[in-house]
Amino acid sequence: MSTTRQIHWGILGLGNIANTFASDLQFVTNAKLLAVASRNHEKAAAFKEKYGAQKAYNNYQALAEDPEIDIIYVATPHVFHFENAKLCLENGKAVLCEKPMTMSVAQVKTLCQIAIDNNCLLMEAMWTTFLPNFTRLKELVVSESLGKITQLKADFGFKSDFDPMSRLFDKKLGGGSIFDIGIYPIYACLTLLGKPDSISTNAVIGTTGVDESCTMKFTYHNSVEAHLFSSLRENTPTSVEIQFENGSAILGPQFYGPTELKIVDKNGNETTYPKYEQGNGYQFEAMHMQSLINEKKLESPVMTHAKSIELAEHIEAVIKKIGTDYKIT
Ligand SMILES: NC(=O)c1ccc[n+]([C@@H]2O[C@H](COP(=O)([O-])OP(=O)(O)OC[C@H]3O[C@@H](n4cnc5c(N)ncnc54)[C@H](OP(=O)(O)O)[C@@H]3O)[C@@H](O)[C@H]2O)c1
Repeated sequence: MSTTRQIHWGILGLGNIANTFASDLQFVTNAKLLAVASRNHEKAAAFKEKYGAQKAYNNYQALAEDPEIDIIYVATPHVFHFENAKLCLENGKAVLCEKPMTMSVAQVKTLCQIAIDNNCLLMEAMWTTFLPNFTRLKELVVSESLGKITQLKADFGFKSDFDPMSRLFDKKLGGGSIFDIGIYPIYACLTLLGKPDSISTNAVIGTTGVDESCTMKFTYHNSVEAHLFSSLRENTPTSVEIQFENGSAILGPQFYGPTELKIVDKNGNETTYPKYEQGNGYQFEAMHMQSLINEKKLESPVMTHAKSIELAEHIEAVIKKIGTDYKIT
């Protein structure tokens, strides 16, 4: 029997996604944004005011050590996730860590072990998997009501202005399309189709040494193929399109967020599930984290440690194939 109480959140790293997440916490029952931490005091103070938090820290350590905090949302660039999440876990905090959880399989495994050793909940913030229509799509696939999947296409591309200093293009900050957005098509594919038998890739490597776009083909037994694409160079439909033996489904546009799901059966009958309109959609992963805290769970049954390791393994396989080395062990 679970009990519910107010859950005290902290946010570490106050950039773009931290703002969106903080805004969505208002839709989560019993959620309280208690403290925020930035490397910059003015920024932390302004963020605190904007979202009604109680405390603003000018360093991450102080947030990690705050005894009143239950969960810390780590929202720094990918290359810092490992050290930032480790800091929080070693101070006994549950961690919701932005995607990708870290820059390598080895780091993900180590972080999961640190969470276990410290009796702390750790989950990668793959918000997609908690969204209503993605959940519906997972159920459709598992039910096999349209038969098995015969082909899957998923893409995520947006035209980004080239800035060698930005985290999207700077290799030292974990730049490149695969880590930032390719992770979504890869995650969708692994979740809906499972692990592929083989992977082939074709990437455009830019002047900063990161992949600016990447075409990936995941091949499965029985000739099933998944065609995946990520790009910082162009806008793409950002949808997941699935052909089943007896129908099809399209999730999109912006399939990684709250969006429409259209299902068509073999007779051409269409069923459309509309976009979820409240907030930006980050409240679902936050609600899930809170329910895990209330149930005293140390791991999500949905976004498991094993799932994060599997995701990292496939990202790493793609990165190795395209030959960009981030020199992370
Ligand atoms: N789930 C999603 O939909 C989603 C969407 C976008 C991004 N993300 C993920 O969230 C993470 C952050 O992305 P973002 O777009 O929010 O990034 P961002 O706007 O650049 O913000 C990152 C924050 O990290 C902190 N930081 C610490 N060390 C830094 C350094 N050396 N350089 C730059 N920033 C540093 C900064 O906060 P302070 O100055 O306050 O310390 C900065 O504002 C990434 O891992 C990304 O993949 C997820």
